[in-house]
Amino acid sequence: MIAYSDCPVRDVQISLQPSAKEIMEMDFLCFTLPWNEQDYREMQKQPSFNNWLLEIPDVCAVGMLAFQSVHPELEILRIGVHPDWRKRGLAEFMLEQLEILAKLDRIESLWLQVHAANKSAVSLYSKLAYKEIGSRKNYFRDPSGDALLFKKLLMHDA
Ligand SMILES: CC(C)(COP(=O)(O)OP(=O)(O)OC[C@H]1O[C@@H](n2cnc3c(N)ncnc32)[C@H](O)[C@@H]1OP(=O)(O)O)[C@@H](O)C(=O)NCCC(=O)NCCS
Repeated sequence: MIAYSDCPVRDVQISLQPSAKEIMEMDFLCFTLPWNEQDYREMQKQPSFNNWLLEIPDVCAVGMLAFQSVHPELEILRIGVHPDWRKRGLAEFMLEQLEILAKLDRIESLWLQVHAANKSAVSLYSKLAYKEIGSRKNYFRDPSGDALLFKKLLMHDA
C-alpha cells in the first residue's frame, strides 16, 4: 500500500496487491467487457503481472491499473477509473506513478494497445507523450475496430 497526498484527488492510496475480487469489481464498473474474478486469479499467479487498485481510504475504490513487465518493456493491459470519478486527473496520476516505478525498475519503454474509437484513452496517452507506433486492423470485437499501438520511451540518467 502506498499513500499519496499530491494527487489531484486528495489522500488516495494505491493498493499493490488487491484481491482478485476487489480488482474485478472495479474492472466491472469501468469496462463494457470486464475480466472476471477467475481471469484475475489466474493472472495474479504470473510473476510478470501486476494490478493496482486506487482507493480513497474509508470512501471507495476509484480506479485500477493492470500491467505486465517483461524486461526491458512494460505493457499496460488495462486502466480504468470509476465512472463517478473521471475527469479529475486520476488516470493521469496512475500513469505518472507507473512511470516512476518503471524507471526504478530500469524499464526502457511502456506500451499498450487501445481501441481506435476510445477517444478519451487515446487523448490520455497522447497527453502523456505516448507515441502511436502502429495499428492492428479489426483487432477488437464487440465493438469491432482497429487497435492503435502506443509506446513511450523512458529516459534514464546515465
Ligand atoms: C480513459 C479513462 C481511464 C480516463 O480516466 P480519467 O481519470 O477520467 O482521466 P484523467 O482525468 O486523468 O484525464 C487525463 C487526460 O485524459 C484525457 N481524457 C480523459 N477523459 C477524457 C474524455 N472524456 N474525453 C477526452 N479526453 C479525455 C484528456 O487528455 C485528459 O487531460 P485533460 O483533463 O487535461 O483534458 C477513463 O475514461 C475510463 O476509465 N474509461 C473506461 C475504461 C477505458 O477505456 N480504459 C482505457 C483502455 S484500457
